[in-house]
Amino acid sequence: MFAEVFDQTFLKKFAIKPCLQKFLIKLFLKKFAIKPCLQKFSKKAFYIPYVNIVPMRDIVIIGHKAKTDGSFSLNDLPGSAGRMDILCRCVSSALFLSFGMRRDVNVHLLLLGEPDPGKIIRFEGLHLRYLNPDERSSGSLIQKALQKDATEQDIRSTPGVWIRRGDLGFLLSKFEGRTLLYLREDGEDFRAIASEIRDPVFILGDHTGVTEEEEAQLLKAGAKVISVGPISLHSNHCITLVHNELDRVEAERGELPGEADRRNED
Ligand SMILES: C[S@@+](CC[C@H](N)C(=O)[O-])C[C@H]1O[C@@H](n2cnc3c(N)ncnc32)[C@H](O)[C@@H]1O
Repeated sequence: MFAEVFDQTFLKKFAIKPCLQKFLIKLFLKKFAIKPCLQKFSKKAFYIPYVNIVPMRDIVIIGHKAKTDGSFSLNDLPGSAGRMDILCRCVSSALFLSFGMRRDVNVHLLLLGEPDPGKIIRFEGLHLRYLNPDERSSGSLIQKALQKDATEQDIRSTPGVWIRRGDLGFLLSKFEGRTLLYLREDGEDFRAIASEIRDPVFILGDHTGVTEEEEAQLLKAGAKVISVGPISLHSNHCITLVHNELDRVEAERGELPGEADRRNED
């Protein structure tokens, strides 16, 4: 209710410009939403208005070999954890700014390796805590999440990290109405269309790419195939590039992403 008052009465009544609205809400959330005592309250009161007002960027990475239990060693993320290092770098590239975090980003790791394929770990930028930019840090939060008994319902592992059972079909159904963008080397140049993109969901493969079956599912769901350049890059580098294109567009519109975070943490 408080958020409603903040949103409807304060921001709209006083005709605050949309770009300033975003800034104020981010500043407000950053200040209050992440305090543990307010988290339960903030989830209900602020999250829904926040996601309705601030366009989100969602990023899905498919880990075909990524382990689906917590029995791997953080010292061996590329080996026994099934190339979990790739997913960890993606988490970091998707969420971290130089000083601060992209609160308008969610990362969804689709884990399809042994022993229990079909788990989804979600990192919510808005509520995330205890994450550092190194691979070991995201690896450790992934491992903690995998130690939970995953079900068909979201289970919170640590603040901003959730786990559930699910597959690509489930994720795509959840994103109905959003702009699905499937990254593939020979797709349409993202730079040429970035300014038209609203509420994007990016989907990327791991070191093995995306299977034919997954690709068919993505195309059936209406995903646009986009490229970030003519050379095959690492998945996390692609994430940096799509962020950069959208950041430039938003900067031109006077809507610098993460600006509130940067000002707070500088
Ligand atoms: C290391 S690449 C996969 C390479 C894999 N050998 C293949 O043939 O698909 C990992 C993922 O990054 C994305 N990717 C890599 N380079 C890209 C580019 N230039 N444009 C768009 N997406 C790219 C794709 O989603 C790809 O599945």
